[in-house]
Amino acid sequence: MENAARKVLVVGSGGREHALARVLLRGRDDREVIVTPGNGGIAGDRLRRADVAVSDTAGLVALAKREGVDLVVIGPEAPLCAGLSDALGAEGFVVFGASQAAARLEGSKAFLKEFAVRHGIPTAPFTVVRTVAEAEAAIAARGAPIVVKADGLCAGKGVVVAESVDEARTAARQMIEDRIFGDAGATVVIEEKIVGREVSVHAICDGERFVVLPPARDHKRVFDGDRGPNTGGMGVICPTDDVSPQLMERIVREVIAPTIEGMKSEGAPFRGVLFAGLMIDAAGIPLLLEHNVRFGDPECEAMMELFDCDVGAVLASAARGTLDPATVSFARDRYATVVILASAGYPDKPRLGDRIEGIDRAEALGATVHHAGTKREADGVLLTSGGRVLAVTASAGSLDEARAIAYRGADAIEFSGKHLRRDIGKTVA
Ligand SMILES: Nc1ncnc2c1ncn2[C@@H]1O[C@H](COP(=O)(O)OP(=O)(O)O)[C@@H](O)[C@H]1O
Ligand SMILES: [Mg+2]
Repeated sequence: MENAARKVLVVGSGGREHALARVLLRGRDDREVIVTPGNGGIAGDRLRRADVAVSDTAGLVALAKREGVDLVVIGPEAPLCAGLSDALGAEGFVVFGASQAAARLEGSKAFLKEFAVRHGIPTAPFTVVRTVAEAEAAIAARGAPIVVKADGLCAGKGVVVAESVDEARTAARQMIEDRIFGDAGATVVIEEKIVGREVSVHAICDGERFVVLPPARDHKRVFDGDRGPNTGGMGVICPTDDVSPQLMERIVREVIAPTIEGMKSEGAPFRGVLFAGLMIDAAGIPLLLEHNVRFGDPECEAMMELFDCDVGAVLASAARGTLDPATVSFARDRYATVVILASAGYPDKPRLGDRIEGIDRAEALGATVHHAGTKREADGVLLTSGGRVLAVTASAGSLDEARAIAYRGADAIEFSGKHLRRDIGKTVA
């Protein structure tokens, strides 16, 4: 069978990659999955880790060859932007993950904005600048409030929503002159602030065709009630009624479809996951804030609960350019919740090295516990090794039930300094 994908290499080390690995194994006892560099959770029947870093392109190509894998699934954005998909593709591997040219949608905010204009995709008015003088002129011309965005990858820290002209000027100067984000801030986008409601949409794409995934609601702030600093994400519910079928239809028509068509027409067909970040303004227009070229984490953990078909076959067909949307199905009337367990001090200064217990207990209560920042010591002891430690995931026939199982699981797990939000799925977007 063309899409059997017997041996799959997953590149990355988060909860997203652990969830991908597990869903690839679900119902497929003829399949084997390797995750590199993985984390303390990557072990089991037909599941193992390799030790090659996501930045080591040559090492990853060598690993794929050595293992003779049928499919490579690339999790994070950095290796996509660095051209890993192209390097593996050149060796004949089937790769689920955007090419370097297509990954510019995430890797360059200036590219994204100019692409949106070229293809009539609604987005906030903006100016691209490369010097402090240009930045100051653009800020003065637009006035506050205003948004200052570093062009390149900044791990979610490169955007300043400035309430005053002074704050915007300082942000632009720090990016362009002080290079606080290195070369990622050499080019800066100055854009109008939009007031509205934020939603995001994921689509699996094969360069031409695509399948939209059930909409998810993330929870970015570290504390309950959406207080405290932004994080990589403290939890998710999926699906959410934040995106009505009518709104979804509009987002697909005005943003997703023109993006896929536009990339194809520009000679950089998009194969992989497109994760659009949007602001719905007062008039109901979905304005594109950004595209990501990979699954959100923890959105991925929730979405993987809802697939009702072989995810490996879906990803392999998308990678080959032969996606048949009719073969992709999601469980009806099923709801997923992810509760992140984070380290004390996350996101600023996460404390590491605490001993984790109770994962078996949590799983016995019906949760699936994906590892993110964990490492397994030689003696088998599991320690925290990152800001986000575990993604406690559950799905059920109602959101309340999924949430109850996830929280029961979360409460069964112990490590010193454990922090979680208690209001996942309860806050109004
Ligand atoms: N034009 C804008 N108007 C209002 N808020 C914005 C605008 N652009 C970005 N933001 C806010 O900043 C956040 C981060 O911006 P985004 O473009 O998603 O970059 P990244 O995720 O790479 O940091 C968004 O989630 C949104 O809350
Ligand atoms: Mg974003």
